[in-house]
Amino acid sequence: MATTIQKPRGTQDMLPKEAAAWQYVEMCLRQACTRFNYKEIRTPMFEHIELFKRGVGDTTDIVSKEMYDFFDKGNRHIALRPEGTASTVRAYVENKMYGETDIQKLYYMGPMFRYERAQKGRLRQFNQFGVEVLGSFDPYSDAEVIALAMEIYKTLGLSQIKLVVNSLGDSESRCAHREALINHFTPVIDELCQDCQTRLEKNPLRILDCKVDAKHSVMATAPKIIDYLNDESREYFDAVLAALDAMEIPYTVDANLVRGLDYYNHTAFEIMLDDPTFGAQTTLCGGGRYNGLVEQLGGPMTPGIGFALGIERVLLALEQQAITLPVTNTVDVYMMPLGAQTKPTAMKLMHELRQNGVSVETDYQGRGMKAMFKAANRANAQFAIIIGEEELANGQCQVKNLVESTQETLNISQVVTYMISNK
Ligand code: HAM
Repeated sequence: MATTIQKPRGTQDMLPKEAAAWQYVEMCLRQACTRFNYKEIRTPMFEHIELFKRGVGDTTDIVSKEMYDFFDKGNRHIALRPEGTASTVRAYVENKMYGETDIQKLYYMGPMFRYERAQKGRLRQFNQFGVEVLGSFDPYSDAEVIALAMEIYKTLGLSQIKLVVNSLGDSESRCAHREALINHFTPVIDELCQDCQTRLEKNPLRILDCKVDAKHSVMATAPKIIDYLNDESREYFDAVLAALDAMEIPYTVDANLVRGLDYYNHTAFEIMLDDPTFGAQTTLCGGGRYNGLVEQLGGPMTPGIGFALGIERVLLALEQQAITLPVTNTVDVYMMPLGAQTKPTAMKLMHELRQNGVSVETDYQGRGMKAMFKAANRANAQFAIIIGEEELANGQCQVKNLVESTQETLNISQVVTYMISNK
């Protein structure tokens, strides 16, 4: 026998038995977007690498180490998208969507790719649902975005959901903080890892996010951005918090929250599952404001705010909390032709039923009636239609209600109408 080929490390198959849960979650995400009036955008799964490697933004792991990139046959340097924000902004600029309305409220869903060390909840191909609001400077729009994310977990019935917020301030605040960080880390820089030594000059904020040096005593005493916010940034952050208070959305301010991408300013937030038994990957969702990114990608001055959540992590959280989703896995009718002669009539009737919105399954393995009833059971069929040779001669069939265990004889010509009103 040939050796079997396995899926690449860090990828997952979504099997039919899991499909109903996926589809249910996707439906909830779309319905939430309808309630908040966000419109869908779909962008390519691969982009020119420059979209993600924007020179200044090379200090994050996502961009500098985890990118799936390659040269295509035309020698173009391509990257599989690691996230959706840059792609959405690229599409916004390229399609001049700023000219359509003042504010674009967009959402997307689909696979993202990061060459990470695979573990439970951390994949190399994973699915994100994300939203991006382009064109609003209003702190209430930050609060709306956060509210939408929180609403999704609530709708799905998840508990122990913790919202953590921080402000990274405007560029003036971040400059002051950057100075303070450089002064703080310079005397001990030799004790930190090679990456941190590079980060000191390029982007000292990233040192706070270092996994290697996380336990070094210098981390705990590092200056916090929140203490360096200028009045404008402080006011903006207070307004976001006030809007969250108004909606009674509980949150914790965490001055140490640093996001894993470089484009953030002002509001930054994450949503975690507050459950120590969940495993290492407790962050379900992350987002924040990225004023300046649209300009960086060649568009007019346009502020932006958004978030993305991992759909696999939602499903893991649902499993962790033993939440059964209201998904049905049923079929209306199981068609049972008995004997070769009855098959054309059964096939015709089945086709007509399907054309009229009735779901139908049948047997293609030449099974007898007993085995077909078993199969109907497995398929969770509500009705069985039995067409025997004798019935066929009279233009009739047996319709058995498998839920109520009742049976009646119907003219084949009546079956479609009967099923439409009884299924
Ligand atoms: P992010 O924090 O890098 O943000 O990712 C958002 C979410 O995607 C994470 O909270 C997690 O649930 C999921 N995720 C990330 N990496 C993996 C992985 N390797 N395996 C499984 N799930 C993963 C962003 O991507 C930003 N674009 C969010 C954003 C939108 N900010 C503003 N707008």
